[in-house]
Amino acid sequence: MTRKILPLALVSAVAVAALAAQAKAPTALKSVDVKLPKSVHALPDGPGLAVVHNTCLGCHSAGMIMNQPAMPKAAWEVEVNKMRNVYKAPVAEKDIPTIVEYLTAVKGPK
Ligand code: HEC
Repeated sequence: MTRKILPLALVSAVAVAALAAQAKAPTALKSVDVKLPKSVHALPDGPGLAVVHNTCLGCHSAGMIMNQPAMPKAAWEVEVNKMRNVYKAPVAEKDIPTIVEYLTAVKGPK
């Protein structure tokens, strides 16, 4: 009987000691300063803005678009089709050219 109780008592003692040690160490809180990157909340004005606004901001912010590198028209076309086909963005077929024109105008090669 003692053979079974002794290991159990030892384990309990170690566990209690560990808890007691934890309780003694106070949690030190300190303030940190974090600089977040500038966020883009709005799409710039331009022809087709309303369509892009209504179609592209349901799942992510304007920053997802504006923080991309400048891309040529063909690349924006691929991007819009990716949103449509891969992420199932509800983009009407007839709106694709308007959206691509807008994106090329605001984030195309200068
Ligand atoms: C159904 C939801 C949905 C809609 C609507 C949507 N997107 Fe996205 N978009 C996503 C997801 C998901 C990602 C990937 C996010 C990530 O990687 O964290 C993404 C990422 C992006 C990116 C970053 C590059 C990339 O390919 O990951 C761009 C640019 C973008 N979207 C543009 C658009 C444009 C333009 C429209 C409008 C035609 C649009 N999105 C509409 C879901 C959507």
